[in-house]
Amino acid sequence: MEPRYNLQERTQRSYEQFLTRYPAYYKTALLDELRASEYARLDQQRHVYLDYTGGGLYARSQVERHLELIGGAVLGNPHSANPTSTRTTSLVESARKAALAYFGAVEDYALVFTLNASGALKIVGESFPFGPGGEFLASADNHNSVNGIREFARAKGARVRYAPVVAPALRLDVEATRRLLDDAGGGEKLFAFPAQSNFTGVKHPLALVEEARQRGWRVLLDAAAYTPTNRLDLRQVRPDFVTLSFYKMFGYPTGVGALLVHRASLALLRRPWFAGGTVNFASVGAMAHVLARNEAAFEDGTLNYLSIPAVEIGLRHLEAIGIEVIATRVQCLTGWLVEELLALRHSNGRAMVRLYGPSTNEDRGGTVTMNLYDPAGHLLDYRRVEELAGEAGISLRTGCFCNPGAGECAEGLTEEEMLAGYAMGDDINLQSFLRLMQESGLNKSAGAIRASIGLVSNWEDARRFVEFIEGFRDQTRLAIGEVTFDVDSCRVIRDGS
Ligand SMILES: Cc1ncc(COP(=O)(O)O)c(C=O)c1O
Repeated sequence: MEPRYNLQERTQRSYEQFLTRYPAYYKTALLDELRASEYARLDQQRHVYLDYTGGGLYARSQVERHLELIGGAVLGNPHSANPTSTRTTSLVESARKAALAYFGAVEDYALVFTLNASGALKIVGESFPFGPGGEFLASADNHNSVNGIREFARAKGARVRYAPVVAPALRLDVEATRRLLDDAGGGEKLFAFPAQSNFTGVKHPLALVEEARQRGWRVLLDAAAYTPTNRLDLRQVRPDFVTLSFYKMFGYPTGVGALLVHRASLALLRRPWFAGGTVNFASVGAMAHVLARNEAAFEDGTLNYLSIPAVEIGLRHLEAIGIEVIATRVQCLTGWLVEELLALRHSNGRAMVRLYGPSTNEDRGGTVTMNLYDPAGHLLDYRRVEELAGEAGISLRTGCFCNPGAGECAEGLTEEEMLAGYAMGDDINLQSFLRLMQESGLNKSAGAIRASIGLVSNWEDARRFVEFIEGFRDQTRLAIGEVTFDVDSCRVIRDGS
């Protein structure tokens, strides 16, 4: 069924052109029905939600089913054998099995429930046997919760390096990465990269997982931004460690993530401490403990046992829709959005939007990051843009999205410039750094505007966003800084040249 919108004639024509260009969108019509029944709050409030990379949206029925489940059961702390505890354990284990099955990982992987993706990443960081002769190699495009692992590596004397991404598409430099993977010592080595960038939406090549493993590396695949709109099949791609947050996939519950560990790599991890629930044996007199040999060794204290059953409900919800349908819709909308944004021009012909990341929808997801420029090439203040978007009923995200590497590469920020920011000590934050860049006349932005598309996004969301951005045509009011920049050539313009 073709989705119906109450559109003006121009909009109708534009919608028809979109459908002609992206006919696969027809096949995703069930998402419109789902949006009307399960996510009606969006259209009731005329809200355009474009922060799916920040957090997914939940269907009403997910919450209702969860309430029904926990409202009708007597559930106690799972660390016991009484009936309420046993019931909780069976719900938790059922969710664990459902999640393993969802990722095709029943046989070979253990699943550790964590607080979120960051919690999962921290477990890998603190437990990986880094040491002299070992290494932590990360793609420059990584969330800070991956970057933070370098502190564990450094503290244990391992080498830390970054694999570069290349502007303007900000894809991983695969050849340079291979060289870095080849140039390694004999100690334990961990290579970490995101399956999909939370900054640019780039899908980095999953083939690198096997390439790195063949070279003796352990691989950590951060799948937090990838899993909401793509199938991750661990029968096909076999990293040692996978990290994710469930709320990004289906909105509810928050507070639960997962670390999937290949069983062959489980014994490699050495926890720096033990806690309630993680040990088979612990003695005060003998000052000794024996960690559990399975995922329990990583689940400190009491699990979020009331929320975990909602993970299974969320997974069933995604399965009923089909992640491929979501992927198709996101691809169509992203392709159109990117084309429309890049086509926007001021009256003098200058581009209005500078996109960070791929300019086509090949090997990219629905995260579209940009900055806006005025007709003279002055950067517009993205913080005001976000405020104005809010007033127009559009939820965007601005800033650096906890991904400094992608941002630095996107803006060409040098080590010296970043060190100048670091030298500001406790006064440094995104705002003061931005000021520093403007005052030094560099006109570099240390942040951007991110619109991300997801599960129940529709063309009308994308259209309203483009219309909002169009409103900045010939605008000079929000310009910051004096230096002018030509978006088309990606060059600072000096002396009017
Ligand atoms: C790629 C990526 N990794 C890790 C994280 C951290 O997720 P969380 O904040 O749920 O721990 C995020 C969050 O946006 C992300 O996009």
